[in-house]
Amino acid sequence: MQYTANTLENHWMPFTGNRDFKADPRLMVKAEGVYFTSHLGHKVIDASSGLFCSAAGHCRPEITEAVATQLATLDYCPHFQIGAPPSFELANRLTRITPDGMNHVFFANSGSEAVDTSLKIVMAYNRARGEGHRDKWVSRERAYHGVNIGGVSLSGLMKNRETFGAVMPGVVHMRHTWTPEARFTRGRPTHGAEMAEDLLRFCQLLGGHNIAACYVEPVAGSTGILVPPVGYLERIREICDQFGIVLIFDEVICGFGRLGTPFGAQAFGVTPDIMTMAKALTNGAQPMGAVCVKDEIYETVMNAAPAGGVEFFHGYTYSGHPAACAAGLATLAIYENEGLFDKAAALSGHFLDQVYGLQDLDIVTDIRGIGLLAGFDIDPAGAAPGARGLEAQKRLFKAGLHIKFTGDSGIIAPPLVSEESHVDEMIGIIRETLAEM
Ligand SMILES: Cc1ncc(COP(=O)(O)O)c(C=O)c1O
Repeated sequence: MQYTANTLENHWMPFTGNRDFKADPRLMVKAEGVYFTSHLGHKVIDASSGLFCSAAGHCRPEITEAVATQLATLDYCPHFQIGAPPSFELANRLTRITPDGMNHVFFANSGSEAVDTSLKIVMAYNRARGEGHRDKWVSRERAYHGVNIGGVSLSGLMKNRETFGAVMPGVVHMRHTWTPEARFTRGRPTHGAEMAEDLLRFCQLLGGHNIAACYVEPVAGSTGILVPPVGYLERIREICDQFGIVLIFDEVICGFGRLGTPFGAQAFGVTPDIMTMAKALTNGAQPMGAVCVKDEIYETVMNAAPAGGVEFFHGYTYSGHPAACAAGLATLAIYENEGLFDKAAALSGHFLDQVYGLQDLDIVTDIRGIGLLAGFDIDPAGAAPGARGLEAQKRLFKAGLHIKFTGDSGIIAPPLVSEESHVDEMIGIIRETLAEM
């Protein structure tokens, strides 16, 4: 199949160098298991689960059939003052794998919407408990919390922020947790927990009683995988408890087995008050995001509203869309039936052995990894930031591998259904390609 610049022109592509891409497109036309097929008919192994979505592998018939059946039965139904069974079933099913006491789920359509929804839940909760004056928000450098105005405000990635002046006021950023001493650390760095004291400093500067919430990704994902230092998340939890600050884990990447447990919260043994999730919730087969809150937050918001009235003035036309819920239910059934979270935990050792084997390449300047998630940095060699990363990504595609790059960091997140041989194939292609650069 040939595509020319003419036929590609009308779609303004997201997070893409449109002119560069359209001159030399990389299109996927089919997918199955851990492979895509490109428009040139080449097999391309998926080293990033699409974009951390396709954990159960691509084009799972169980999901396709569930969505098709749902669309043929009840294609759409609003969820304002009426409802449909799939959203209730999915929320119920989901809370079987969330930490204890987190039993209420609000549906959105993406990770970005989940994050912005969580901001509004915190605002509503704080008002309901008589703490409506809390108007400061804490996030982190190098954080990624989506692209809506709230999420961009929380984000700590310069390129995602610099063009957009009109972000939400009152957001401050803690330092990120990367340190040069931690280069090539496998798993959690032993140094760096002291970065959590940044939150205490903000409490001392702004008044802890004025801080509404603190956002962290358990493992910072899109920036290139920053694994939390030992003791870091525990200390963040402790400070939040001390000052009544709502702790939010953005689990959009860490959720659904990526770290060998349902969520990052369980992997690190720290329970937040709210979790945002998306991506692998539906295996990427339908757009969906969700916010899971602890019972006390839900009950406080419910009880503060007049009986019979709407308690939370928020929602999307597609919140809890039946087809997305059907995809979510089928996906969670696959995770459970195939024990995919345990499978991910079992594959992690081999995966990390292979990834850390890349450190003998001169071009690789750091590797970080945990579970089935790893990031490696390549030496920009004097080029503009990200230029060599893009070059590597293009070469890897030509060599038969899809991988997400952020700047000069490659991010490997194989589908949880991968076998050791798939991991070996992925790392083999990365090794050969980087060695030639
Ligand atoms: C941690 C985190 N939060 C939020 C988002 C935004 O999700 P979406 O692209 O579905 O809006 C992402 C996307 O990568 C993410 O990694």
